[in-house]
Order: sequence, then C-alpha cells, then structure tokens
Amino acid sequence: MNIHIFQNQQELNEAGAGIITSLVQTQPKAVLGLATGGTPVGIYEELVKAYNKGRVSFKSVTTFNLDEYVGLPEDHPESYHAYMKQHLFAHIDLPLNQALIPNGNAADLEEECELYNQRLEEAKQIDLQILGLGHNGHIGFNEPDHSLISGTHRVELKSETREANARYFNSINEVPSHALTMGVGTILKAKTILLIVRGADKAEIVHRALTGPITTEIPATLLQTHPHLVVLMDAEAGRLFE
Ligand code: PGA
Repeated sequence: MNIHIFQNQQELNEAGAGIITSLVQTQPKAVLGLATGGTPVGIYEELVKAYNKGRVSFKSVTTFNLDEYVGLPEDHPESYHAYMKQHLFAHIDLPLNQALIPNGNAADLEEECELYNQRLEEAKQIDLQILGLGHNGHIGFNEPDHSLISGTHRVELKSETREANARYFNSINEVPSHALTMGVGTILKAKTILLIVRGADKAEIVHRALTGPITTEIPATLLQTHPHLVVLMDAEAGRLFE
C-alpha cells in the first residue's frame, strides 16, 4: 500500500491526474474505472486541463463507471450520467460508446447488471480504478453488510448514504433508494486502485479502512488485500496516519 498525504487540494488533484495521464500516455488503450461524488471533481478538472494542453488523448481509452442511481433519468442533473458529462466526458475526446455507466433505468435491472458484467469481462481488466470512500466505508455503492456481492448488482442505499448525498438534491426524499453498483470482486480485480480521500470527516473511516480488521461491515477494509493500492489523501483525512 502506497499512501501519500498532501498539504493542499491542488497538489492532490495534480498528483491524481498525473497518475491517470501517465498511464494513458504509456497505454493509450487503458481501461479506467471511474468514480463520481465530490471527491474526484478536482482530479477530473486537471485531466481536462491536461487534455486541453495536448498532453493526453482519451480516444482509445475505455471507461467503466462504478455506479448509477436506479430510476433517476439520465438527464437529471444528479444522475451519474449527467455528472460524468459535466465534469469529464463533454470536455475530452473519449468516444461516448467507450464510456460505460450502468443504466439505472433499464426495464430489467438484473439483465442490465449481467450486461455490465459481460462488458467488464470483455475488457478483461480495469487498469486503474479510481475510488472515493463513503463515511460508512462503502466503495462504489457496496454498502456495509454481513456479506458482499462480487459482480454488478442492485443495492438498497443505506440511510446514511442517502443523507450524505441529499446535499445535492432538494431534499432527502428525492435521493433514490436504490442504485446499481460494480461489486467488490470487480473492484479488487483492477490492476491498480487509486483511493482518494478528503476532509476531516473521513479521517476515522479511512484509518479504520486501511489499518483495521478486514470486515464486510466496512467494505473498504477489503482494499488492504489489494497488491497495488495507491491512496491519496489531504492532510485532514490523513490526520491519523501522521
Ligand atoms: P463523496 O462520496 O466523494 O461525495 O464524499 C464518496 C463516496 O460516497 O464514495
């Protein structure tokens, strides 16, 4: 495990984007696993800057997003389809048919999960999986539970997750109750995992996730078993590692 703690957000963003651009420069057909939420926004901004400066092209890259809400229209501003367009896809040369996100509006959600798993299998391996961390230790939308599912599946969101995400909606009632998420098996199969954590409110959970006993009740503890885990944290989140 490789842990880096940054004194300011800009340095963290540049470091995160630098890891991604270096990979794509040396491996133009790289497969990237993408995350949403507040955490990666600044890294996507730096990727767009690198693209605009001509330092990187995404035209042969394939991306798989971790998750999507169930039942939220794709053009709803808080859907992860809309998020990815807003923060990354609209600004780079990644062909949209190479940018995969689970369809939370599919008529048959089980079939959609199966299809997503098939596409992941066809891609063979995610070269770099970007991950944020939930306050309850979730990764993607793999919520704490007594058991976890390996492949893409439908999940009921925990109340704390809906509360955390309510800041983006008018009220908690508008936050969807379910989502589709890549499973922990797929996440752990990635060649490299890039975990990004920011803020004092994540200091305890990231410390437990990376140093505590491995338990499905904190899904992020499973990351301790990964051979190539890179963690980028700001000083507030990394407080307990100093
Ligand atoms: P955040 O979400 O980046 O908005 O804090 C992280 C997560 O829930 O995985």
